[in-house]
Amino acid sequence: MQPALILALAPLAAFAFPAPSSGVRRVHERRDAIPSSWVPVTDPFPTTPIPLRIALTQSNLDSVHDELMHVSDPSSEHFGKHWTAKEVAEFFAPSKESVDIVLTWLESEGISRSRVEQSQSLGWLEISGVTVAEAESLLDTKYTVYLHDVTGTPHLGCGDYSVPEEVAKHVDFVTPTVHFDTRVKKEQPQRKRSAATEVGKPGSGSLPKQGATLSSESILQELEYCNEEILPICLQALYNIPVNQSRATAKNSYGIVEYTPQSYFATDLDMFFGQFAPQLVGHRPTMDSIDGGNIQTMYESFDYNGESDLDLEYAMTLVYPLNPTLYQTGDMVEGGSFNNFLDALDAMYYTFDGGDDPTEDGVYPDPYGGGYEGPETCGGYAATYVVSTSYGYNEADLTPFYEERQCAEYAKLGLQGVSILYSSGDYGVAGNDGECTYALNGTRFNPSFPGTCPYVTSVGATQIVPNATVYQPEEACETVIYSDGGFSNVFAMPSYQAKAVSTYYEYFVPPYTAAQYNNSRSVRGFPDVAASGANYVIAIDGEFALVYGTSASSPVFGSIVTLINDARLAAGKGPIGFLNPSMYANPSMFNDITMGSNQGCGTEGFYAVPGWDPVTGLGTPNYLKMVSYYLALP
Ligand SMILES: *[C@@H]1O[C@H](CO)[C@@H](O)[C@H](O)[C@H]1NC(C)=O
Ligand SMILES: *[C@@H]1O[C@H](CO)[C@@H](O)[C@H](O)[C@H]1NC(C)=O
Ligand SMILES: *[C@@H]1O[C@H](CO)[C@@H](O)[C@H](O)[C@H]1NC(C)=O
Ligand SMILES: *[C@@H]1O[C@H](CO)[C@@H](O)[C@H](O)[C@H]1NC(C)=O
Repeated sequence: MQPALILALAPLAAFAFPAPSSGVRRVHERRDAIPSSWVPVTDPFPTTPIPLRIALTQSNLDSVHDELMHVSDPSSEHFGKHWTAKEVAEFFAPSKESVDIVLTWLESEGISRSRVEQSQSLGWLEISGVTVAEAESLLDTKYTVYLHDVTGTPHLGCGDYSVPEEVAKHVDFVTPTVHFDTRVKKEQPQRKRSAATEVGKPGSGSLPKQGATLSSESILQELEYCNEEILPICLQALYNIPVNQSRATAKNSYGIVEYTPQSYFATDLDMFFGQFAPQLVGHRPTMDSIDGGNIQTMYESFDYNGESDLDLEYAMTLVYPLNPTLYQTGDMVEGGSFNNFLDALDAMYYTFDGGDDPTEDGVYPDPYGGGYEGPETCGGYAATYVVSTSYGYNEADLTPFYEERQCAEYAKLGLQGVSILYSSGDYGVAGNDGECTYALNGTRFNPSFPGTCPYVTSVGATQIVPNATVYQPEEACETVIYSDGGFSNVFAMPSYQAKAVSTYYEYFVPPYTAAQYNNSRSVRGFPDVAASGANYVIAIDGEFALVYGTSASSPVFGSIVTLINDARLAAGKGPIGFLNPSMYANPSMFNDITMGSNQGCGTEGFYAVPGWDPVTGLGTPNYLKMVSYYLALP
């Protein structure tokens, strides 16, 4: 890690309680409710030091949408003209103006420039020696010490905070504030992983769901049984996926992201390949280890291996002979978050001191010992053309600023020609584990993140209708899991989706009120597309078993996009990059799903209907139609 840039060495100003800023203050971030597991206990000592950090607004972020559309909208003359990583980094670096305005504000509050350091990535300012009293005055807030009701870990937080109006647009967010897990220094008796870093942990609601186990003799290897057991041949038939046709494997790439302790079991891969893809026996994905990510073999169970085995068994088989890249993220102790993954691709996004926000992300080197002691992975890994992730959070678990910052990062990857796919989630209109606790009465729908980020392709789940064949229309998944879908509480509706969503509302007004979801017709609807998510046969811990989840849908859809990229690369074209504008512009290349719904929160959820719907999106892929459309684009 390189040392942070020291901005100025002005003589240290005498510290006193500063005069309040003359500017008008505005609430910058507010949290409506304290997360359920935290209990307020006491006021902190005014002299307790806190690691105050200010995330600066990157420049030009307000034009990221337009810039992304220029290269992704099929009607744009710039379609496919992706940017280099360097062009992206330079375009979005925080402006000198932002730095100056924040420093001037801090100085007016009695914080001299010598106490402020700017991170190497230029994205953050860290102020040294700040006390609780000083921060309360600076941010016009009141800190409280909270205790976690299970672990007893103390945390310092506040309900809202303010910054002067003229500063607001230069600041993304300040920590520690409303982000809920920051530890009070000095008293750190035990490690507490935030919900956000537990994304790969057993019991995480985003992992696939297990069904019956099967003996290998009993597996039904014929297309006529695909309604009971999904195998690679079923998906190839359902979606017209070609077999063994990758030609541009030297140029192409496909990434699967896994979060330790989730990891694949080598013998499971070979067991699966032995049965369904003998040419792959002995093959392993190319691993990019991020923040100590490794293929742990200490724990063996569905909860530890199910997701990775599923993702890799299907992705490796479907894109053969291309060998996917496995982004194995986080160690066994600290875990990892989506930001940890993104940091590994983009040094600019990476932030000093080992984490974007230590309240949300894995911190490396592990500050408490026992985990990965190396530096946090900061840039250096190439992004594959398609990245599929089958993990997710509830949108309500994270703060809007944090989500917007991460969402913009997906847009930046799109600018570079990367397709980002996330599973939409498995609980219908409810959140992970069926939670609907967001807002009053516990009945508000709980959309998932990052699926609601408009620069991500969110993949929902379908199933073959019971007793139907692969040649008949599928329906929304209603076996074991329900496809997450609905409308964001954070993100506005992107332009590419406006027509599809307004058509949906024109013909099919959902019977729910604003208390249940944002029905303003002006917010992001998800998912974008869907693929089979029921009855997958996987090899898991030495057995064959059935699994369910949008966890399966995302790597399958990603495999199809990878094969389309292959065709484009073989034809001398570039990868598609951000998919949504071109997909919404040509919905006829999908199998429209018009049956089933995504129940949750005590309701039937939304219904799959003709056209786009908040259950299965535009529908399931038809490779042949998609590839001919994408080959015709520049
Ligand atoms: C795919 O390739 C493998 C190995 O080259 C071969 O064994 C298999 O039969 C092929 N499958 C099809 C459907 O062509
Ligand atoms: C499917 O077929 C089986 C056997 O014919 C029958 O018992 C079952 O009720 C059918 N299921 C549905 C949903 O039609
Ligand atoms: C919550 O429940 C109460 C009592 O049933 C009802 O009056 C109120 O409108 C509900 N609030 C919301 C936001 O649904
Ligand atoms: C719904 O979204 C719109 C547009 O973002 C916003 O103005 C409105 O406040 C939201 N409604 C609720 C109840 O959050």
